[in-house]
Amino acid sequence: MALSNEVTTVLNEQINKEMYSAYLYLTFADYYDDRGLKGFANWYEIQAKEEMDHALAIRRYLLDNDFKPTMEAIAKPDKTFENDLAPLEAGLAHEEYVTSLIHHCYEVAHAQHDVRTMKFLDWFVAEQGEEETNARDMITNMKLFGCDPKGLYDLDREYQARTYVQSASLNL
Ligand code: FEO
Repeated sequence: MALSNEVTTVLNEQINKEMYSAYLYLTFADYYDDRGLKGFANWYEIQAKEEMDHALAIRRYLLDNDFKPTMEAIAKPDKTFENDLAPLEAGLAHEEYVTSLIHHCYEVAHAQHDVRTMKFLDWFVAEQGEEETNARDMITNMKLFGCDPKGLYDLDREYQARTYVQSASLNL
């Protein structure tokens, strides 16, 4: 059964939003790299890879359902941050925005009685919940421990330990 125009439109747009998310997180990584906080930079470089995986998974889903996606232009993220907390807060606001986009995709699929796409999006719904939690935890950690050099050093070491693992549930 072919996907509806309504569903392919929002999913094609979502590819672009996920690629923008990767761009945004690379700008966060650039900021922290410049500050000498290589662990924070590492965390966001991995986050950028995950966002590209999300884009690739949606692209693959469209291709597998006989729809040719279009790669639209990716917007340039704002690169100015006032302090080390600012990217973290921008990250949470962005993830909440992406959650609203994923939920919209789901609502469109539901309105079209597109059960296949709803099942496909289930993974993204759960992932957004995890990403919001991670973003919130990073803000809390920074407020609690980031205000003295030793605490910031320890946090940076913690984020340095993150490694990239491609989700086994994603068909890329
Ligand atoms: Fe793939 Fe966190 O949006």
